[in-house]
Amino acid sequence: MSMTVEDCTRVRPGFPRPVPDTPNNVLQQFQMKGKVVVVTGAADGIGFAVAEGMAEAGADVAMWYNSNDAAVERAKGLGAMHNVRAVAYQVDVSEAEQVKSGIERVVGEFGKIDVFVANAGMSISKPILEQTLEEYQKQMSVNVDGVVFCSKYIGAVFKSQGHGNLIITSSMSAHIVNVPVDQPVYNATKAFVTHFGKSLAREWREFARVNVVSPGFFDTKMGAGELALQEAYRMAALGRQGHVKEIKGVYLYLGSEASSFMTGSDVLIDGGYVLP
Ligand code: NAI
Repeated sequence: MSMTVEDCTRVRPGFPRPVPDTPNNVLQQFQMKGKVVVVTGAADGIGFAVAEGMAEAGADVAMWYNSNDAAVERAKGLGAMHNVRAVAYQVDVSEAEQVKSGIERVVGEFGKIDVFVANAGMSISKPILEQTLEEYQKQMSVNVDGVVFCSKYIGAVFKSQGHGNLIITSSMSAHIVNVPVDQPVYNATKAFVTHFGKSLAREWREFARVNVVSPGFFDTKMGAGELALQEAYRMAALGRQGHVKEIKGVYLYLGSEASSFMTGSDVLIDGGYVLP
């Protein structure tokens, strides 16, 4: 049924909602002291840079890792260097029970979770005709199931706290498929999480913000391999891959009060790769 002019002009109780009581000073808006941030896939690459950026801004960080236990020493290093609490947790995000108990452990040990960065991901970059069903299922289990499990269990925490902030790492692959290597399954997993995140921004509008980050090629283990490297340089307007220090500010912005009017956004950071 279409809306009438009367419907549009009717005053809705409780609206407009109040502007949040955030600092006016922009540098204070970026302060994370007293906040608790969980980052998945935090042992290295983009996830470690995000954990580092949050700690630099004063947050306590729970660094989730799967197989790379370098996270344990790296957490100790961040804690000592930035005078924050930083603890590594081994959690396979493709296992729902591990995600559930991982979140319970962080809440038990830190008292709350303000920001959850669902960043862990993996790719098996092959055309579908060369991909086994096991390879397909592996990517779905980490990139899709992992984000869904994390969101489901952290959403319950955010709802009971009455506040929360979820940031999902997607990819420019959710925007374009014209990347140097055919990887339809990986691309589709990222399209899923982008749309999922936007949908959660609506579902959770009473208690949490949800935003998506879509990186282009970054120089990590998952960045452009030998086959894709020259094409990655050619396609990016800036002519190179990104360095992880160039992305942590986006996550800090989305995780902090500086972005208090942002939800349901998809922030593309790709050196101009997907420019038409
Ligand atoms: P990376 O390979 O260094 O990091 C991925 C992390 O996810 C690793 O620490 C890995 O151990 C973790 N992980 C994998 N499976 C897991 C599981 N089952 N449970 C828990 N953790 C698991 O690569 P990078 O680049 O730092 O990737 C981070 C995110 O950024 C991923 O979601 C990736 O898809 C995304 N991305 C990366 C791009 C790039 O060019 N580097 C481009 C676009 C998106």
